[in-house]
Amino acid sequence: MSEDQGRCVLEACKVSKTFDGPDGSRIEVLRGADLQVYSGTSLSIRGESGSGKSTFLNVVSWLDTPSAGTVWWDGVDVSKLSATELSRRRAEVLGFVFQAYYLMPELNVLENVLMSARIKGSLKRDSRSRAEGLLEKVGLKDRFNQLPGKLSGGERQRVAIARALLNQPSVLLADEPTGNLDEKTADIVMELLLGLCSDQGASLVLVTHNPQYASQTDHRAQLSGGLFNQIL
Ligand SMILES: Nc1ncnc2c1ncn2[C@@H]1O[C@H](COP(=O)(O)OP(=O)(O)OP(=O)(O)O)[C@@H](O)[C@H]1O
Ligand SMILES: [Mg+2]
Repeated sequence: MSEDQGRCVLEACKVSKTFDGPDGSRIEVLRGADLQVYSGTSLSIRGESGSGKSTFLNVVSWLDTPSAGTVWWDGVDVSKLSATELSRRRAEVLGFVFQAYYLMPELNVLENVLMSARIKGSLKRDSRSRAEGLLEKVGLKDRFNQLPGKLSGGERQRVAIARALLNQPSVLLADEPTGNLDEKTADIVMELLLGLCSDQGASLVLVTHNPQYASQTDHRAQLSGGLFNQIL
């Protein structure tokens, strides 16, 4: 293991999240969850529906704030960042792939991938060639000008993977990325996701209900009772 692989790129320390339920009740979803993601490694998260997997991803990406606990991105305590620094660092450190793709319907494939550089404010001449290179790697070389509405689910997810990797994030967070795909397409997308993250040196946090996909990651965690266990 190289020294860089020992670097913690994402860490949750005693993270809790409580939501307000109906009639003044409280829903305690996360109860002091700890998780570490090391540079260049992949980790899968499994857990029953409603166990808090998506909530955890929202909280570690600071799209929602934890009720308690600390989140570190590349050694930086996220709670200490100003709003501007937060957006900038998030765009640098994290990439996202969701079950529902979230592509912009009015933008073509290439423009969708370039959106992450635009959001980060770093659209440069070489962004376009990097976007084209990533699209080629996910097998969409001939589809640069196509609108997402004319793509299959598997193709849309491949665009989303290229978009997530454009900024060379330290960590890619994927929330059930194959949840809308048939088995064969899901296998292809998963192979691309694992292969590309490894090629690009991005760590992967993969939320999946599929035990076979979970077994392909370097580390595995189970979320239950608001805590992670069984990290192997
Ligand atoms: N904004 C919110 N307000 C109140 N309750 C919420 C909110 N967001 C999530 N919850 C509750 O938190 C719990 C965990 O939800 P979450 O979406 O994180 O589960 P999950 O593990 O991702 O499930 P799935 O596998 O079905 O995607 C659920 O009981 C959900 O109803
Ligand atoms: Mg979920």
